[in-house]
Amino acid sequence: MKTMIHLITLKNWAREQIEEVLDLAADMKKVPEKFQDAMRGKVLVMIFEKPSLRTRVSFETGMCQMGGDAIYYDMSTSPLGMGKETIHDTIRTLSRYVDLIMARLYEHEKIEEMAKYSEIPVINGLTNFSHPCQALADLLTVRDHKGSFKGRTLAYLGDAKNNVTHSLLYGCSKMGVNIRVGCPEGEDYSPLPEVLSSALEAGKQSGASVKVTHNPFEAVEGADIIYTDSWMSYHIPPEELEARVKALTPFQVDAKKMALGAPDAIFMNCLPALRGCEQTAEVIDGPHSVVFDQAENRLHTQKAIMVKLLEEA
Ligand code: CP
Ligand code: NVA
Repeated sequence: MKTMIHLITLKNWAREQIEEVLDLAADMKKVPEKFQDAMRGKVLVMIFEKPSLRTRVSFETGMCQMGGDAIYYDMSTSPLGMGKETIHDTIRTLSRYVDLIMARLYEHEKIEEMAKYSEIPVINGLTNFSHPCQALADLLTVRDHKGSFKGRTLAYLGDAKNNVTHSLLYGCSKMGVNIRVGCPEGEDYSPLPEVLSSALEAGKQSGASVKVTHNPFEAVEGADIIYTDSWMSYHIPPEELEARVKALTPFQVDAKKMALGAPDAIFMNCLPALRGCEQTAEVIDGPHSVVFDQAENRLHTQKAIMVKLLEEA
């Protein structure tokens, strides 16, 4: 019997489900023509409350490449965004028109509510709390570059009370990638405790270690992957800039920290990136950087996610 699944966070996704998506994505990357009719007659609606380059264009392109269509729906001009309609009525209506919903929102609770009322699969295109599509694409990028997951170590430096960090914690710990988070002390910059405890549990199953340190050099030592993300995520108010730059500068990925990683370490950033903030230009534009492979893998991974969710629906 089929049971509809959503992609809201990776917390409740099994290792096998993640592997299936990554294998399908790898196949799609290699022979895209094989899937040119996979979404024929299907429509995706993409609800955006925040800006986007990669998520918007890769989802829409993915749908086009598979023979389907995608609708960009700006939340600020919707009855929902204007406070004229509930999530319930919006999602029940959309369920009568389209086949898939993707949403990029501020509050995570809102995407959970969408999934609760939806009659069709819902994909989280980023909330303040998590960014599962990014972590799946990142896992594919790690596998593309490193060949396997087991025993690899990913060091994440910077703002760790962060959607990408949370999703990497879930994803790496399930797939057997050791994860070390290097961030300033205090709850403003640390992963949420419930995510950490879930990652520690998953790590017991997969053999992955999960650590948080406030020493950036300890975090990157011998790491195979050095990852960072924006210090000013979309939901962070501009007035926090000065305090954040001060707290996070010791965690900037520069050439010195890259040199402490494994000799063939790769540098990752989900983008958008600011040179001179979370990493130096020398690092992001240097030979270890795979940031555009990551961006490309959003396309292949999301095509696989959409096919997988519709297969189960
Ligand atoms: N990495 C990512 O999600 O990028 P966008 O904000 O451009 O979609
Ligand atoms: N943490 C970043 C990710 C951007 C893709 C943000 O939320 O803005």
